[in-house]
Amino acid sequence: MPVRKILVIGIGAGNPDHLTVQAVKALQTVDVYFVLDKGSAKQELVDLRASILAEHVTRPYRWVEGRDPERDRNPTDYRATIDAWRRDRADVVRGLLSELGEDEVGAFLVWGDPSLYDSTLAILDDLLARGESFEVEVIPGVTSVAALTAGHRVSLNQVGKPVQITTGRRLAAGWPSDVDDVAVMLDATYSFEGVDPDTWIYWGAYLGMPDEILVSGRVGDVAARIREVRDEARARKGWIMDTYLLRRS
Ligand SMILES: C[S@@+](CC[C@H](N)C(=O)[O-])C[C@H]1O[C@@H](n2cnc3c(N)ncnc32)[C@H](O)[C@@H]1O
Repeated sequence: MPVRKILVIGIGAGNPDHLTVQAVKALQTVDVYFVLDKGSAKQELVDLRASILAEHVTRPYRWVEGRDPERDRNPTDYRATIDAWRRDRADVVRGLLSELGEDEVGAFLVWGDPSLYDSTLAILDDLLARGESFEVEVIPGVTSVAALTAGHRVSLNQVGKPVQITTGRRLAAGWPSDVDDVAVMLDATYSFEGVDPDTWIYWGAYLGMPDEILVSGRVGDVAARIREVRDEARARKGWIMDTYLLRRS
C-alpha cells in the first residue's frame, strides 16, 4: 500500500547558503509544499523561501497554504484551551495534507532546524495519533543558535560544561540552575537586562541575513547599547529576530 511521505526540511536561519546539500537533494523530490501561515509572516522571510525554491527546484510543484489558528495567550482554562487549539491546528494541517496524492511527496520548509522551538513535528505527531497515515522524514538545518556562535566565532559550551537553551520569558523568571551558559531565544522583553552585569553576552539579530547585527561584551557595559540598536533596527525594518548567548565564567 502506498504511503504518503512528508519531508520536514530545515532551511537555516536566514542565509540561503545555510541550505544543506541534503536539503537541496530533498527539494528535488517534492510535489507539494505546505505552508502554515501565522498571518504575521514577514515579507523577507517569505521571500527567502521563494528564492530557495527558485534557485534549487527545477521540477513542477504545488504550493498549498493554510492559516494557523490563533492561540489565546492568557486562557482561563489553560489545558482545555491548548487542547482545543491543538485540535483546530491538526484539522487545518489535515486539510492541507488532503491535497497530497497517495504516491506524492509533501514538504514543510522550517526556519532553522525543525527540532528547535518549532511546532511542525508536534503537529504531525498529533495527526498520526489521530489516525492519519503518512511517513515523516526530517532534514536538519542550521539553527539560529549555530548562526549566532558562528557570527561571534565562539563555542556554544565551555569545556566540558552544559548549556541550556531557553526563552526570554523563562530567563526573566531567574537564571537556570546548574549552568553557566544560556542561549536565549524568543525574547521580546530584554530579559538580559536582569542578569548579573558581569555576565558576558553574545547578541545577534537577523543572523545570516544582509542586515545581521552582532554585539558582544559585559552585560553591564553593552545592555543599553543592545536595547538601543534593537529598538532602532526593529523600528526601521518593522520586525526583528534576535538570539543571544549569556556566559558566566
Ligand atoms: C520560533 S523560533 C524558531 C527557531 C528555529 N527553528 C531555529 O532553529 O533557529 C524563532 C526564534 O529563533 C530565533 N531566530 C531565528 N532566526 C533568527 C535569525 N536569523 N537571527 C536571530 N535570531 C533568530 C529568534 O530568537 C526567534 O525569536
